[in-house]
Amino acid sequence: MALLETHGLTKSFGALTAVNAVTLRVEAGAVHSVIGPNGAGKTTLFNLLTGAFPPSSGQLFFDGKDITGTPSHRVAHLGLARSFQRTNVFPALSLLDNVWIAAFARNVSRRGLTWRRAQHYPETTERARSALADVGLAEKANHLAREISHGEQRQLELAIALAAAPRVLLLDEPAAGLSPDETRKMVALVRALRGRYTVVLIEHKMDIIMNVSDRISVMHFGSLIAEGTPAEIQRNPDVRRAYLGGAAA
Ligand SMILES: Nc1ncnc2c1ncn2[C@@H]1O[C@H](COP(=O)(O)OP(=O)(O)OP(=O)(O)O)[C@@H](O)[C@H]1O
Ligand SMILES: [Mg+2]
Repeated sequence: MALLETHGLTKSFGALTAVNAVTLRVEAGAVHSVIGPNGAGKTTLFNLLTGAFPPSSGQLFFDGKDITGTPSHRVAHLGLARSFQRTNVFPALSLLDNVWIAAFARNVSRRGLTWRRAQHYPETTERARSALADVGLAEKANHLAREISHGEQRQLELAIALAAAPRVLLLDEPAAGLSPDETRKMVALVRALRGRYTVVLIEHKMDIIMNVSDRISVMHFGSLIAEGTPAEIQRNPDVRRAYLGGAAA
């Protein structure tokens, strides 16, 4: 069954249709990638999926429920977590504190906060530590976020998203700006998440996409032009023409 599904999802900014009638099914447990040239509408599609803004038209379903127009804080509580195209951490806090905040935010009840010391939330601390371990940063839990490398900051960002115990993880270019070595590490991390999480991944680096994806959707000028397995996408002539261009031909 599709965990996340869109029907004719459309977003216009004035005369520009950034996302044009996108119909997409993301199966539970899959790594589903969205690729396409710069400006194809990938990040805008993520913004629609997370409720950052409502679509101009079309519908969004999560776990069979129509959640079209649900604002982002409520979508997050339903279990969609995203990491951003740009790194987004608190540099003056430790890695554990950065992740702990995300784990704690997940638990805040509708009745609001009760102020207790952090050690009175052992299960939150446990979830934060296990998210750090999942991304290979357990040993640096007490380092400040500003002290770690750029690659590790991206791993930390992934841990922050994981700490919210999401059902769907949306990753927008998690390997942006990483060295080849750091990129390899990130690929291994995303592969390790497969099956445990449902992952929607935006990425420009083709080797990553072909390595980790169960399915790939290709966007071009706001529209989906192809969908399939990595092998199918690699030999799709429309994709080669529109996206891979000379590099793949
Ligand atoms: N808030 C906005 N207001 C106006 N136009 C926008 C807005 N957000 C995005 N756009 C436009 O929508 C189009 C799609 O942008 P988007 O950021 O979704 O592309 P993308 O596929 O993520 O590109 P990239 O690979 O460079 O990250 C672009 O032409 C962009 O300028
Ligand atoms: Mg983008």
